[in-house]
Amino acid sequence: MTEQGIHLQSVTLRRGAATLFDGLSLSLTEPRIGLVGDNGAGKSSLLRVACGLLAPDSGSVTVHGADAGKERTRLPGLVGILFQNPDDQIIFPTVVEELAFSLTAQGEGRREARRRASAYLGERGLDGWADRAVGSLSQGQRQRLCLMALDIMGPRTLLLDEPFASLDLPAQARLVRHVRTTDRQVVLSSHVLEPLLEFERVLWLDGGRIRADGPGREVCAAYRADVEDRAERAGDAQLLS
Ligand SMILES: Nc1ncnc2c1ncn2[C@@H]1O[C@H](COP(=O)(O)OP(=O)(O)O)[C@@H](O)[C@H]1O
Ligand SMILES: [Mg+2]
Repeated sequence: MTEQGIHLQSVTLRRGAATLFDGLSLSLTEPRIGLVGDNGAGKSSLLRVACGLLAPDSGSVTVHGADAGKERTRLPGLVGILFQNPDDQIIFPTVVEELAFSLTAQGEGRREARRRASAYLGERGLDGWADRAVGSLSQGQRQRLCLMALDIMGPRTLLLDEPFASLDLPAQARLVRHVRTTDRQVVLSSHVLEPLLEFERVLWLDGGRIRADGPGREVCAAYRADVEDRAERAGDAQLLS
């Protein structure tokens, strides 16, 4: 049986001159895992290492049994990442082409990929989106497109990097519902903590280290208390400097 989930073994990662992860070992096996932590804590780096986009300087990463370094061609069906900024992700000028690319990248023929992409939009009541120029979509709509481009590939694990950041409230509610009901594994970084409270596991990253690891409600409360404590100690002076 192949090993489920994503496993980092003694991962060291240098970013610029600094070592961000120093022998980090982590097994990500729960259905829903949250990542919290200040800017620069290492959330995006962890997600990029977990999907094989960033190769560690030492150590190994396995994704549902596939070695992220040596078996890269197996990764697209196993793990997909939603970048913080949708514009880092989108390649094609129209919605249907972007969606179809997810399928041709996995070996589907072009005509069949386009047919399936159109059908996928239709099933979601979005027929009108097919030929729309990606540039005519709002930031939130472009992010929705990125999420659909991931979903249509059918990876077992979705890595979502601050997915709520540019979404209006209805879109946030839709995404929360999707995360709650999908049968894919979801690993999600966020500064919006409410959706993470019900997660079975949340990791608090601090300077590339795991500061806390436990049920969402506990870890989010500890992180929030720390943030408030720091804000209080810093006082107005730092706020205004
Ligand atoms: N391309 C890069 N080159 C050098 N350092 C980077 C790069 N990307 C991120 N870093 C550094 O790595 C650390 C972690 O960043 P990141 O993973 O983006 O954190 P987060 O997503 O939690 O804000 C930060 O100190 C950041 O400055
Ligand atoms: Mg980030």
